[in-house]
Order: sequence, then C-alpha cells, then structure tokens
Amino acid sequence: MPSSVVTFTKPNSRRPPSQVKGSMAVIFTTLPPTRPCRFGSWRLQQCRRATLADGRPSRGAFLTFLFPDHDGTRVTRSSAGRRRTIAHVRMARRRPSRSAAAGITYRLATIEDAEETFQVVHEAADDVLRRAGRRVSGDAALPLARVIRFRHFCVRHDGGRFWVAEQEGRIVGAAIAILRERVWYLAALHVLPAFQSRGIGTELLRRSMAGVGRETALTVLTDALNPVSNSLYMRFRMLPQDTILTFDGTLDGSGGRRAPGASPVGSFDVQRLDLSRDRATLDRLDRGSVGFSRPVDHDFWAGVPGLEGHLLEDAGTVRGYLYLSDAGAAGPAAALGSEDVPAALATAARLARERGVANLHVRVAGSARHGISWLVDAGFQLTGIGLMLSTRRVGLLDRYVTSGADALY
Ligand SMILES: CC(C)(COP(=O)(O)OP(=O)(O)OC[C@H]1O[C@@H](n2cnc3c(N)ncnc32)[C@H](O)[C@@H]1OP(=O)(O)O)[C@@H](O)C(=O)NCCC(=O)NCCS
Repeated sequence: MPSSVVTFTKPNSRRPPSQVKGSMAVIFTTLPPTRPCRFGSWRLQQCRRATLADGRPSRGAFLTFLFPDHDGTRVTRSSAGRRRTIAHVRMARRRPSRSAAAGITYRLATIEDAEETFQVVHEAADDVLRRAGRRVSGDAALPLARVIRFRHFCVRHDGGRFWVAEQEGRIVGAAIAILRERVWYLAALHVLPAFQSRGIGTELLRRSMAGVGRETALTVLTDALNPVSNSLYMRFRMLPQDTILTFDGTLDGSGGRRAPGASPVGSFDVQRLDLSRDRATLDRLDRGSVGFSRPVDHDFWAGVPGLEGHLLEDAGTVRGYLYLSDAGAAGPAAALGSEDVPAALATAARLARERGVANLHVRVAGSARHGISWLVDAGFQLTGIGLMLSTRRVGLLDRYVTSGADALY
C-alpha cells in the first residue's frame, strides 16, 4: 500500500500539510481545481470546501485522492517502496515556485551535513538577534558535541524529517523535526539571511512534516520576539499554547539577590537512571507530562557526554526524573505534579554545586508557576521569553522542565 507523504508543490504555502493514509491522500489547496487533476495512479475522489476557525467558508479546499489498488496487489515497487514524495500534484494555473526560480534544491540530510546545518543555525539566529539589537550569545549550555550528536541521532531516527535546502552544493537552509506517537516537534528551522523571504523556510517546514497524520499535533518552541517565524508557524495552525521562560543563575550567589538554590524548599533523593531498569517509570512520567512516551530520546540523552540522568525520589517513591549537564543545563525533567517542580529544581541546583558547576540554565513553561516562583525567589535571572505553539493542546507542561538544549522539548 502506498504510505508516503504526497507533496503538493504550490508556492503559496498557507495551508496545512498534505496527509496520506493507506490508499487515501488528503491535500489542502487554495486553488480549487478547474480541470480534473490527478497524479500517478491517484484519482481525485472528493473536493470539499474548507472553513475558517469561525465557521466562514475559506478560499481553500480539501482534495481527497484515492489510490485504486486498495488491496495493494498492483502497487508497483516504485510507489510502494518509496517512503517519501511519491508524486507532485500538477494543477491548472499553478504559479512557478519562488524557491525553484532561485535554483534551490531540497534533499534529505545525511550524517555529513551535521556541522554545516549548525553553521546555518548560528548565522540565521545571530542575524535575528543583531537586527533586534539584542546580544548575540554563545550558548554555553549547548556544546557543539551535543548539537552534532543530536543531528546524527535525527538522521537515524527521524531521517525523513531532516531536510536541507541547497544552492550549488552549499546548504542555505535546514529543518529538523521529530515524530513521537501523535506529536510532531520542529526542533530547528533556519535559512541563511541572504536566502530568506523566498519560500525556502516554508518548503523545508512542509517537507519536515513527513509522517504527519490528521491526528498528529504539530508543536514548536519559538522566540516570542520573532514575528517572522511565529507567523510562519501560525499559518500552519500552530498557535500559542504556553510561554517558555529561560532562567539563568550563578550558583556561587555572587550575581543574584540571593544565592540561586538557597531556598527553603527541600530537594529530592536521587538515584542514577538505569535505562535497563527504569524504562516503564520514564514512560509513565513522560506520558503524565509531555503526553507521550519517548524511549529513543532517553537513549539519546543517556549517551550525551557530560549529561547525567537521575530519578527523583521522596521517601522511596519516585516523583520525577531529571537530567543535568556538566555545562549547567537542567532538563529535561518531568515530575508527577506541578508542586514537585521546585524540589526538582532545588535538586538540580544541589547536584550542580556538587559537580562544581558555576551556572544553572533552566527553561520552564509559563504554566509551571510553582517552578517559576522558586526560580524567582532563588535569585535566578529571566534571560529569555519564548512561546510553545501547537495545533492542539499537548501534555501538562506545568510539571516539566524542557531539555534546555537542542533535543525534543
Ligand atoms: C524563520 C525562517 C526559517 C523563515 O525562512 P524563510 O525562508 O524566510 O521563510 P519564507 O520565505 O517561507 O517566509 C515565510 C513568510 O515570512 C515572510 N518573511 C520572511 N522574512 C521576513 C522578514 N525579514 N520580515 C518580514 N517578513 C518576512 C515571508 O515574506 C513569507 O511570507 P509570504 O509567504 O507572505 O511571502 C527564517 O526567517 C530564519 O531562518 N529565521 C532565523 C532563525 C529562526 O528564527 N528560526 C526559527 C526557530 S523556531
């Protein structure tokens, strides 16, 4: 059976992703077909007008295509064997693609692209900060080794969702997304400044949605002060679900009103994570916080040099888990309840001190009010404000500390 994502290459990209399920493909377009359209063996079965959120009819329509070989017997090797784009819908009145006009080509990333794609991240992100008159900061909490390892991991586990855009062999943009159960997360989307505003970001975003279905929630964490990226995501109906606040603190207490971590909240007992023993516990904590389980991501974190995972316990009962890096990045951490987050953060501060780490870097959702209160009371500085966007509500982030680095949440 064909199980590929069908890419519809209309240049104006204000539409949700195409979806393919078994022998059915649903495609959204703002250009209703004036002539019968078809691609390969797929046949147009239905054209349904879309409606806006307030119920008014939109200019767009959902086209449903059927693949005639329902029992799969006549599916050719080429259509059944390819996991990605199997066809491009050709429509009457199609406009030429902006990116195609610029000589941009798209391909899946390989292990060898890891460094170059991170260079694109640097140039694009620093440019946004510079233009906004903000300080360009080296992210000490995100060492290069971890970033590169993350990209290698994505090629292995989410290879269909890691795309690069090239011009004459030079990478000018890249998108990395991850799919776990029914949650898709955009981990990175960057286009070199000189190549922006040509539709490349939109095209990369759409391609990184391979495997997304009707029931999949699309999610991303953004910089709240970047209207370009936020409006791009909102076009795909990723709307604000929560805020994401970044806090930094010096653990020797010299920089804050109070020594970060010096609060009356007690910390948890800790036990080093052992994935051969703790899988079920981690699954339970993940489902209760981010809303899905993610064993492969724990495999990733367990192998990051300098990152230690711990179970958090109170009187012998597991209340959460916590990863802490030797660069002082706390997270991911998940707790049973929102009220456990202060003790989880106090534990991170205690462990960091014990490891001789000078600074602690934490990102929490705005809904994690207990955790934020603890951070403020303990003298941490608010250093960044972001947004968590999603197409539908995902998880209970009031009991979660994000990974603080370039990995899933
Ligand atoms: C966000 C980003 C990837 C978008 O890439 P891009 O190739 O410029 O995207 P597109 O050309 O598809 O642009 C999307 C829309 O934003 C608009 N846009 C792009 N750059 C803009 C700018 N500087 N100012 C205003 N609007 C802009 C485009 O015009 C386009 O709208 P349109 O379709 O109506 O023309 C790119 O701007 C970037 O790398 N930014 C810095 C890194 C970043 O913030 N990444 C997001 C991390 S969450």
